[in-house]
Amino acid sequence: MNSTLPDTENPLRAGLKRKMTAAPPVLVIFGATGDLMRRKLMPALYDLAYDRLLPAGFSVVGVGRRDKDDDIFRAEMLEAVNEHARRTPARPEVWEDFARNIFYHRLDFEQAERYDSLQERLHRIDGDRQTLGNRIFYLATAPRHFGPILEKLHERGMIRKGQPRQGWTRVLVEKPFGSDLESARALNRQISALFDESQVYRIDHYLGKETVQNILVFRFANGIFEPIWNRKYVDHIQITVSEKLGMEGRGAFFDGVGVLRDMVQNHMLQLLSLVAMEPPVSLAADSVRDEKVKAMRAVRPMTPEEVSRQVARGQYGPGFAGGKPVPGYREEPGVAPDSGTETFMALKLFIDNWRWAGVPFYLRSGKRLPRQATELTVQFKAVPHALFPDSDGSALEPNLLIIRIQPDEAISLRVAAKIPSPEIRIQPVLMDFRYGSFLGAEPPDAYERLLLDVTLGEATLFTRRDEVEVAWSVVTPILEGSRPGETFPNYEAGTWGPQAAFDLIEADGRQWRKL
Ligand code: BG6
Repeated sequence: MNSTLPDTENPLRAGLKRKMTAAPPVLVIFGATGDLMRRKLMPALYDLAYDRLLPAGFSVVGVGRRDKDDDIFRAEMLEAVNEHARRTPARPEVWEDFARNIFYHRLDFEQAERYDSLQERLHRIDGDRQTLGNRIFYLATAPRHFGPILEKLHERGMIRKGQPRQGWTRVLVEKPFGSDLESARALNRQISALFDESQVYRIDHYLGKETVQNILVFRFANGIFEPIWNRKYVDHIQITVSEKLGMEGRGAFFDGVGVLRDMVQNHMLQLLSLVAMEPPVSLAADSVRDEKVKAMRAVRPMTPEEVSRQVARGQYGPGFAGGKPVPGYREEPGVAPDSGTETFMALKLFIDNWRWAGVPFYLRSGKRLPRQATELTVQFKAVPHALFPDSDGSALEPNLLIIRIQPDEAISLRVAAKIPSPEIRIQPVLMDFRYGSFLGAEPPDAYERLLLDVTLGEATLFTRRDEVEVAWSVVTPILEGSRPGETFPNYEAGTWGPQAAFDLIEADGRQWRKL
């Protein structure tokens, strides 16, 4: 465990100490009574406090519409930590020390006067905790509140534009960032009227995952892969984000949103851009993001005709999960009984540039699939000449590079090897690297990394304005070109999605990797 390593060897602490002498901020979380706070944000903050990664005085003000006081809020947060943090149960001395800096403020997001009392509260914390006016405003509410909250903060003079050394303001914006290109642009316009882009941190929690960051390290810290990372050697790339869960009480949010907006526009296009981007000139936020944007800009926009050939939409009906019968999507609470929202999508994209011309990228993501797994597979081209006819007459299996993002984080390379025997018989074998057995270091949760980075003012793992917009321009033609789900439901819960997803890839003589 990280915390048992001395500071110099602790991968999280090494190099951070100098930065942690910076003045601490007050993190003001709007939407603090929500599920994200309970499942992710507070547990991540506790784990950071446990690792002594938060600057002394770092304070949290949870803002919500429900009536409660600091003590009740702290007790609820402790429960959340005990349920969801990495190191549980909470250590009393770590929690008590941290909980002293946690507060709750009741506020109706539309009520301007209550912002004045929030402001007074923040001033008091500044005095007590030396937070010096540094603020991180975290918009973790339903997106319809983002605009009104920003307006009120601005009206009451709580936002400082620019980046002074002291008394700075940063804003963290949770997803979903818009529901199409137009709404994302409108939100961006509103934000940039109030903040410089360097103050804005748009969250895509996949970027906070260790294994996602490792894609960059794997590609650019090793000399052997980059020369073959292109159309000459790569046959195609697959990205799968498969979820076993159904709606888990999120039906009302998800219905009308769907997998394309919920997973493809953000997480999957982020994975795609990290795999496809050119080497950045440095690790500075803008160098990395410039390259990601360039890769995404090169994604070929689909015509309606291509949407019908290159996209397969699905919705699950009743079926099984973990051996138990589960209801279909339309029977989930909060979902319309005739809903046309997709819970599965498979698509084929092309990146029109020198590196990737003609190489298909197959993406698929769905709810209620048989397994929880996120995986990236690079399939290389077959050998040019069959020197070794296989014993059973079938072709050699091509080389695969498999990057498993979660769970069981790993990187595997599939190569052909000779089975020991007097004649030449060949079998594919996997060369495996597993994170679990590496340094014994347990990877931090994505939100730990992201909350730490915003505190330190490091923006590389957040999406920039143009990045969000270009991602929306990739998915908008698909949104517009998709037919309503007349055939829904078209896959059984607990299966790998509709037949159309198989047809899509098999028509090209390829297959989805079996996970
Ligand atoms: C969220 C989506 O952004 O990501 C959810 O809104 C999805 O629908 C989740 O379940 C998946 O995240 P993870 O980290 O569990 O892979």
